Amino acid sequence: MFRSYTFRKHHRVVDFGCGRGRVTFYIHRHFQIPVVGIEAHDKTYDEALNNKASYRVKAKHISAPIRLKYGLAEHYDVKPQDTCFYFFNPFSSQVFKKVIANILASVENKPRTIDVILYYPLAEYKKVMRKYPFRKLNKIRVPGAEEAHEKFIIYRLLADSLD
Ligand SMILES: C[S@@+](CC[C@H](N)C(=O)[O-])C[C@H]1O[C@@H](n2cnc3c(N)ncnc32)[C@H](O)[C@@H]1O
Repeated sequence: MFRSYTFRKHHRVVDFGCGRGRVTFYIHRHFQIPVVGIEAHDKTYDEALNNKASYRVKAKHISAPIRLKYGLAEHYDVKPQDTCFYFFNPFSSQVFKKVIANILASVENKPRTIDVILYYPLAEYKKVMRKYPFRKLNKIRVPGAEEAHEKFIIYRLLADSLD
């Protein structure tokens, strides 16, 4: 995916349902930008913290912060500096809808261009996205994948879309 999509220096990525943090750390390492991972399962969160500790030994030179938060994605207070939001089917579409509504409320308060990246996008998630003025920026299939869902869809909401 990162052959055709790149993060910018001013981006901050929120990985909702970050699990053990593999995507969070990958983005941090390759783009050296601030990342936030949110995980609601206590043992998985502890594993993510351990992974962060060992990853940080290798990535000492990267000054951008990594924040891992324990809690529900739908309770995350979206910050004005959050610009990219990643989801790998972490929860039900009802929860996804709440998270997207929180993101949109934040954009209303602090207008900015944001991207939402869905990996393995299910129909219910795509339906939620269609309710808002996002445009589909790109669709990237996983090379060699046999399943139709094995793809990334990147949606963009431009700063003035909610005027
Ligand atoms: C499919 S895994 C994805 C893990 C990781 N993003 C990856 O790519 O390896 C989904 C994760 O979302 C977490 N999760 C489920 N519901 C959640 C919620 N409401 N808030 C935060 N995390 C949640 C699960 O515990 C699980 O670790």
